Amino acid sequence: MADPCIVAIANQKGGVGKTTTAINLGAALAELGQSVLLIDLDPQGNASTGVGVDPKDRTPSSYDLLSGETTVAEATRPTSIERLSIVPANSDLSSADIDLSARSSRTQLLKQAVREARANVVLIDCPPALGLLTLNAMVAAESVLVPLQAEFYALEGLSQLLLTVRQVRQAANPDLRIEGVLLTMSDSRNNLAVQVEADARQTLGDLVFKTVIPRNVRVSESPSFGRPVIHYDPSSKGSTAYRAVAKEFVARRKALKRQAKHG
Ligand SMILES: Nc1ncnc2c1ncn2[C@@H]1O[C@H](COP(=O)(O)OP(=O)(O)OP(=O)(O)O)[C@@H](O)[C@H]1O
Ligand SMILES: [Mg+2]
Repeated sequence: MADPCIVAIANQKGGVGKTTTAINLGAALAELGQSVLLIDLDPQGNASTGVGVDPKDRTPSSYDLLSGETTVAEATRPTSIERLSIVPANSDLSSADIDLSARSSRTQLLKQAVREARANVVLIDCPPALGLLTLNAMVAAESVLVPLQAEFYALEGLSQLLLTVRQVRQAANPDLRIEGVLLTMSDSRNNLAVQVEADARQTLGDLVFKTVIPRNVRVSESPSFGRPVIHYDPSSKGSTAYRAVAKEFVARRKALKRQAKHG
């Protein structure tokens, strides 16, 4: 199997749809035939819950992976979804910033650990902070996908995030790309959301995914059943949108490869 494409799903703002995107983009890519590994890098463990990993079955965890106690193969569990597996997180991860900060290679830990991942796509669900965990994800990744909730402060937060991406490029990962900005939980009846979307498209152009994820109650219900929404309610608006994002993701990557080939 060729090297996986590794994507960090990051935004330091909380509750913008990172985990929902990791789970549902992952499930939709799996449906398209790709083997997908989710890495839950958030001490809250929401991605692990969202794909039905029992809290008692979260060791070895992503913390053990970072600290070098386990291999990615040992830490990976299958889920009930074909071709979708996960390295779960448990609360050990909440002290990772402190525990791992003394290591000289502290931002390279995940990169070293995922080198042997056997998947087409690795999606890393980051916590809502730009600390050591998110840095590890950005150093390991080839790109960063940024879920953005269309609201007043969204674009301000984005400049901070883009600054961090530039710093990571300079320090450790010169080829790190922005995979794209995905507008989430959109409500087309909300004028402010419409304005923020227009601003985002004007400032960021093609970086913004054409697909917009609508606010949809089925999306918010599905984690409590331990299933991605595309399995919980396959015909819901949220499912349709996440399937469209997956197709766009694949098409954009094909276009990039073509560009790279033809110079
Ligand atoms: N499209 C949507 N429609 C309705 N609810 C949504 C949608 N996307 C996400 N949610 C809900 O919004 C909340 C926040 O989403 P999510 O957990 O994915 O954000 P997050 O960025 O991962 O949060 P955190 O920063 O805490 O990790 C969750 O309760 C989720 O179910
Ligand atoms: Mg989350």
